[in-house]
Amino acid sequence: MATINFGGVEERVVLREEFPLEKAKEVLKNDTIAVIGYGVQGPGQAMNLRDNGFNVIVGQRKGGKSWDKALADGWMEGETLLEINEACNKASVIMYLLSDAGQIDSWKTIETNLTEGKTLYFSHGFGVTFYEQTGIVPPKNIDVVLVAPKGSGTSLRRLFLKGEGINSSFAIYQDYTGNAEERTLALGIGVGSGYLFETDFKKEVLSDLTGERGILMGALAGMFEAQYQVLRSHGHSPSEAFNETVEELTQSLMPLVAENGMDWMYANTSVTAQRGALDWKNKFRDAALPVFSSLYEEVASGREAKRVIEEGSKSDYREKLEEELKEIRESELWQAGRAVRELRPKQ
Ligand SMILES: NC(=O)c1ccc[n+]([C@@H]2O[C@H](COP(=O)([O-])OP(=O)(O)OC[C@H]3O[C@@H](n4cnc5c(N)ncnc54)[C@H](OP(=O)(O)O)[C@@H]3O)[C@@H](O)[C@H]2O)c1
Repeated sequence: MATINFGGVEERVVLREEFPLEKAKEVLKNDTIAVIGYGVQGPGQAMNLRDNGFNVIVGQRKGGKSWDKALADGWMEGETLLEINEACNKASVIMYLLSDAGQIDSWKTIETNLTEGKTLYFSHGFGVTFYEQTGIVPPKNIDVVLVAPKGSGTSLRRLFLKGEGINSSFAIYQDYTGNAEERTLALGIGVGSGYLFETDFKKEVLSDLTGERGILMGALAGMFEAQYQVLRSHGHSPSEAFNETVEELTQSLMPLVAENGMDWMYANTSVTAQRGALDWKNKFRDAALPVFSSLYEEVASGREAKRVIEEGSKSDYREKLEEELKEIRESELWQAGRAVRELRPKQ
């Protein structure tokens, strides 16, 4: 592992160059890897592993849309596409990539197939960390590991096809075989990670739940709505308000920040923008800090997990979700967004 200095803090990370694909394939040459679940993360990881030359099968309940998607992606019914129980039975590595609620429901099927020395792999620490709510307690005589790509399964696949990768965290919860770390890294390289950084199951889940509720989705959408509302209430047109709030951010600024960092962005803007943004940055930070602190506390207490499990298991959850999404979709902000997207120059 390489030690890299991240802003003055040294961390152990694994780079692709030090753990080449050939080594990963050698480590797992005798393994059958079953990817259980073919939702968002399942296809990305399964197809990347397959294209990288690993021995992969998919385990998926029959009859749903994921089954059809797996068939469309070239998995062969009865050979490389099986029902969950059969796939787990055949596999030495079980990659548990059902939705977090699906993982709770299917745990008994998985548990029955976890014979001595197998590897149980997660891409989220949720099930194991919140075992009191999920009931997911793996047996002691297996390896329990995690590789969590820090991005959507869709991007994992897209970047893989471009020869790039998404950074992933990795963690070992149980090392029964004594080889858990090497096997985890091999899986991490196999699914198409950029670099891999070490964490533990609990830290992974706390940072992930905070991030998605925070800046990645919850805070971001909330800030969009607030700024759009203020601009509209002062007579700005939807087109002006949307362009100043969302379009410029996603189309112009964020790719530049991704390439060059925030200081570069400030340096390469007008003095008017620079001076104002630098001064207002601290006000937004101070206003947001207490909200982020309470968010982290809610997540760390387990209350967020409890709420998500309770809500997600209600029979009318999907229906209610559709109502919420419809409200967003039909709001003026996102209707304006749709119109703006349609007006983007076509290639
Ligand atoms: N989304 C991401 O890109 C992402 C990123 C990083 C980590 N992760 C983690 O990766 C794991 C998978 O996430 P995901 O987003 O890919 O999940 P997802 O898209 O919600 O996956 C749903 C899959 O689970 C199956 N499923 C749902 N409920 C089930 C049940 N009760 N019994 C059997 N199968 C059931 C679905 O099959 P049907 O089609 O038949 O319903 C589908 O194949 C999670 O632990 C997640 O936290 C996800």
